[in-house]
Amino acid sequence: MNYRHAYHAGNLGDVFKHVVLVTALDHLSKKPAPYFYLDTHSGRGNYPLGEPEAQRAGEFRTGIALALQSPAPPPIIERYLSLIRTLGFEGDTLTSYPGSPKLALSVLRAQDRAAFCELEPREAEVLRYGSHYDARAAVHTRDGYEALSALLPPKEKRGLVLIDPPYEEPDEFERLLQGLPQAVARWQTGMFAIWYPIKHGEASSRFLSRMQACGVRKQLVIELTVEHDDSPGGLNGSGILFINPPWQLDEQLRGALPWLHQTLAPTGRGRWRVDWLVPE
Ligand SMILES: C[S@@+](CC[C@H](N)C(=O)[O-])C[C@H]1O[C@@H](n2cnc3c(N)ncnc32)[C@H](O)[C@@H]1O
Repeated sequence: MNYRHAYHAGNLGDVFKHVVLVTALDHLSKKPAPYFYLDTHSGRGNYPLGEPEAQRAGEFRTGIALALQSPAPPPIIERYLSLIRTLGFEGDTLTSYPGSPKLALSVLRAQDRAAFCELEPREAEVLRYGSHYDARAAVHTRDGYEALSALLPPKEKRGLVLIDPPYEEPDEFERLLQGLPQAVARWQTGMFAIWYPIKHGEASSRFLSRMQACGVRKQLVIELTVEHDDSPGGLNGSGILFINPPWQLDEQLRGALPWLHQTLAPTGRGRWRVDWLVPE
């Protein structure tokens, strides 16, 4: 496995994904009952932006750096940016970008619980070290897909599973298609957010077509791109398939994604969408 998220931290995919993540966790935090957060591909949780990996491609410059500079963000984006300022700034400078575990722990309350799965031992070790003081968090050096059966259902009735694989292996979508319907059946009251890249080729649309036919209800598609979907080269944008989304998440995102698109796609290319793939 060659993937290292440090090269991509804070890029347009992270900004999009983490806005959705924070908004969904904020919904869960509205009710006092405890909830469970499972991050199946958690990464190391914190990415210093001065290090060679982040500097080499500089992907954060066309992601979080643009979002921080743009005026008048909508409320859910301002909320996410305020967490970035708290977690990633030294003085008035962005020096590190928090990964999904660190962002999630900053939203979870004392009564909530998190499990982070990371297959790469060194990444898991950094995360374990970074969250060892936090009794709410458990770090597992293990396969995230296995965790979908091993850790679900949790004792909590409510919660969220973030599935954020690197998509380096050719069978990544296939593994999702095999594991997801059973995971949703196992924890029917849970929310599931699956991030996917939009790149040259139609892998993501084939995945969505097959998910549409798999029998799982309440599937919302959220996408944001900054190039035409089929442009050759790198990441044209990304999507999240959200199963069992919180009430009105779709409306909140419809209100916020035009700003995010305008901010991250100054050329005007690309698009955004929030559509029900399968309704209730
Ligand atoms: C896209 S990164 C995660 C980023 C993180 N979720 C965030 O938002 O900050 C994907 C991570 O999955 C890890 N990984 C790859 N295959 C895995 C597997 N089968 N199970 C668990 N983790 C895996 C990689 O080492 C990498 O750190």
